[in-house]
Amino acid sequence: MEPCIIVHGGAWDIPKDLWDSHRRGCSTAANDGYSVLRKGGSAVDAVEVAVKSMEEDSTFDAGRGSFLNADGEVEMDATIMDGDDLSFGAVAAVQHILHPVSLARQVMEKTQHCMLVGEGALRFARSIGMPTVSQECLLTDRELRRWQEIKQRQSFEQRELFDAARDRYSPKGTVGAVAMDQKGKIAAATSTGGTPNKMAGRVGDSPLVGCGNYADSKFAGVSATGWGEPMMKAVIARRVCHSIEDGMNAQEAGDEAIRYLEERVKGYGGVIILDKDGNLSHSNNTPRMAVAGINQHGERFEFI
Ligand code: GLY
Ligand code: GLY
Repeated sequence: MEPCIIVHGGAWDIPKDLWDSHRRGCSTAANDGYSVLRKGGSAVDAVEVAVKSMEEDSTFDAGRGSFLNADGEVEMDATIMDGDDLSFGAVAAVQHILHPVSLARQVMEKTQHCMLVGEGALRFARSIGMPTVSQECLLTDRELRRWQEIKQRQSFEQRELFDAARDRYSPKGTVGAVAMDQKGKIAAATSTGGTPNKMAGRVGDSPLVGCGNYADSKFAGVSATGWGEPMMKAVIARRVCHSIEDGMNAQEAGDEAIRYLEERVKGYGGVIILDKDGNLSHSNNTPRMAVAGINQHGERFEFI
């Protein structure tokens, strides 16, 4: 098989002055993942590398640059899934880790479980020698200012974040990647700092299998971004795969899922999709979505 990859850096009303940083961050991640695939690496390696690149980039709401929760702390969620045997690893509400996606992978490969949360996830990281970092290493001035501004308000509605007309709190953007390797394995990974001012312990769609992320090498891989609570209600990533199993093409399946998200649970967001034939697509109901990829002919593309 000729390998391919698609990545996203969030779906929201990305203002013009941030287009370059989003383009750069997504293209770099896609290139990094693609290099792994070209050298014969697995799709799991490729999506981990791509997501790590965006976790390091404070442009995005993942790893460094994550939103702060209501207590002024960074708590992150991430997952990675191997579409050959449907194994996945996930971490939620984890602190002091620069690369939650790598910790999720270790959960998949080194434990008998699929998901670890909070303090237990951190203890596991320490037990396998994964480096931990201080909160200051993950925190940006931008997010500290955002948090201070939110704290001065009387009330704060999560919905406003995704409503282009009312949003005063951008930027934000969960990150994700889906890849297919030379053996036809599809893998998907998603990582996020969640939503600003979320309650301590709040977990979003990103680390939940079938919600923010899903991969099945027989059909497709999906990574989602957007307002997590509606995404969870819609079980959106599995919904896309299910529609592809039922005969829709990737674009139709993504569009159907986003329509359902909006009509049934009033959600906002987007999905990237890679199907078993190497078709790459994205669907969203936000003004913009940051996407980059490299198709099976080696052609690069990006959208904002
Ligand atoms: N951080 C929320 C999102 O863009 O998915
Ligand atoms: N979509 C990311 C979140 O809501 O946490």
